[in-house]
Amino acid sequence: MHARPRAVIVDRVMQIASQSLARKSGRLRLACRGTACVVAAALVGSAGLTHGAELVAPFVPTVMEDVELMLEVAAVGPGDYVIDLGSGDGRIVITAALRGALGHGIELDRELVELSRRRAREAEVEDQAAFLQQDVFEADLGAATVVTLYLMPEVNARLRPKLLDELRPGTRVVSNSFDLGDWEPDRHVVGRTSGGLFYWVVPARVGGAWRMSLADAAFDVQIAQRFQLVEVTGTGGLDLHGGVLSGDRISFRGVDAGRRYAFSGRVDGARMAGVVQVHDAGGSSVQRWEARRVDGAAR
Ligand SMILES: C[S@@+](CC[C@H](N)C(=O)[O-])C[C@H]1O[C@@H](n2cnc3c(N)ncnc32)[C@H](O)[C@@H]1O
Repeated sequence: MHARPRAVIVDRVMQIASQSLARKSGRLRLACRGTACVVAAALVGSAGLTHGAELVAPFVPTVMEDVELMLEVAAVGPGDYVIDLGSGDGRIVITAALRGALGHGIELDRELVELSRRRAREAEVEDQAAFLQQDVFEADLGAATVVTLYLMPEVNARLRPKLLDELRPGTRVVSNSFDLGDWEPDRHVVGRTSGGLFYWVVPARVGGAWRMSLADAAFDVQIAQRFQLVEVTGTGGLDLHGGVLSGDRISFRGVDAGRRYAFSGRVDGARMAGVVQVHDAGGSSVQRWEARRVDGAAR
């Protein structure tokens, strides 16, 4: 008989544990040793926690190769602030700290929080890596430049609005094994874990009506948006089309009688601005442009 790869065993255990968690409202711990994982009943400490906080995923650590890959995919380095939601034994935040980043883990299980703090001391990164005993749904995500997840599909679905509301445009999100529903990932990378690793960049909110001005013209712009997918259209002489959005960076094209335009800019709430290349038979120029929201939509 062939030995099954550890990743497959872990995935199967995550499925079983997910079903058990749903039945028992979460007081389970998975213990993994070598290639085997066993489900062990474990009561978790709940002192100081918001009423109603409960375990929504079992403790199954990301294999170290995939920890490195998650941080590599998100290009984590000095200047980053990493928040791991459901941080287990702290390995993601500690490894990020070893790459020069700051960060903290959010973990409901008090024993795992204590274990993480010990591991951070052992790795000599205790001044860069903190661990809070907290419910992931209560976490303040405002500081993050990178958020990591290894939870459950239905938990990711519940967290998605919080991620989109609280994370600044450009924040990178990496999830082990599970996607974020119909928010298509920017990348899906094959790792050791069979579900792979999903990567997103939080998009700025640009959908709606804008008024754009160039040096010698002004016109109305409409942007249709679905997460990071955008389509820019214009009225009033300049035919705008296309659109690429990555975090707060946007680009799109335009054309009018004999001229071709390439817009590139940055979104900042209800304003966006940048430069536009204008190409025609006489040559090329680069001008500034800006646009302001005219539909009153927030952020
Ligand atoms: C699959 S493990 C992932 C651990 C770590 N992120 C990693 O990738 O190695 C999920 C972790 O989420 C924690 N967890 C489950 N429900 C939680 C909640 N509501 N708030 C905070 N942590 C939670 C579990 O205790 C567990 O340690």
